[in-house]
Amino acid sequence: MADGSIEITAQANDFGAEIAGVDLADDIHDDVLAALRTAVIRHKVLIFHDQHLDDASHFAFAERFGPLEGHINRSTRIDALPKLQAFGNVGEDGQPTGVHPEKGTLVWHTDKSYIATPSLFTILRSPSVARDGGHTVFADMTRAYEELEPAQAVRLDGLRAVHDWKRSREKSDERPATADEIANAPPVDHPLVRTHPERNDRAIYIGNHASHILDLELAEGEALLAELERHATQDKFLYRHRWRENDVLMWDNRCTMHCVTDYDAAVERRVVHRAVVQGDRPY
Ligand code: OGA
Ligand code: MN
Repeated sequence: MADGSIEITAQANDFGAEIAGVDLADDIHDDVLAALRTAVIRHKVLIFHDQHLDDASHFAFAERFGPLEGHINRSTRIDALPKLQAFGNVGEDGQPTGVHPEKGTLVWHTDKSYIATPSLFTILRSPSVARDGGHTVFADMTRAYEELEPAQAVRLDGLRAVHDWKRSREKSDERPATADEIANAPPVDHPLVRTHPERNDRAIYIGNHASHILDLELAEGEALLAELERHATQDKFLYRHRWRENDVLMWDNRCTMHCVTDYDAAVERRVVHRAVVQGDRPY
């Protein structure tokens, strides 16, 4: 399908779309930008190949969609452009460090759900691509909601999940949150099912930052979160991205979860740079 000057090729179930006919390093026309915005809202994940972004052009493209936000983990911020983050396992000597940065990315999550106004879009490129593993997998949380058993959907109505940076670091066995991070990101609660303000449909809103459910026993809430995650990550709801060099991904965090698949961090070299567009309060 052609949309303005861009070519959109939808993936299975309309979840994810490859976009051709645009050079993200260019000064993109407003009409093309609007078409990209429409496409990301419809398909939830956009895949661009053969892009040649550096940090400055990555930043400039991302900023067209709204103000960007820096990452709470200051050590990942890129000095020259602190609103961009870099995560990678390549040391200063160019060799793999053996450690995957941010283990929380290896488990299902949606970006920055631990703040009151979680991320809208994330725009990610991978200057160094693992040859084996290290894929990024996405789950379609709108469809996952729509395919709940009706009684389960009713049960979720009105429930709110607590999202907590400190707790999610513990769960993914990461360096503990610092006092500064905890002060910057106290626990917040969000609806377990959120309404997409532009699609006007509903999506399950969970992921690793969700620790428990308000007003439910801790264990019951944890069990419900685990059950919803199992449901939402069935193959039929997934798009698996196998990175090629010069790919760029852009996704809508309001109706997706994602995670990175395993790779050998002692052998592969995997680096991603990302920009995150600020979002609104979920409802
Ligand atoms: C992220 C993230 C996925 C990846 O940047 O938010 O989860 O593929 N990264 O590294
Ligand atoms: Mn993420």
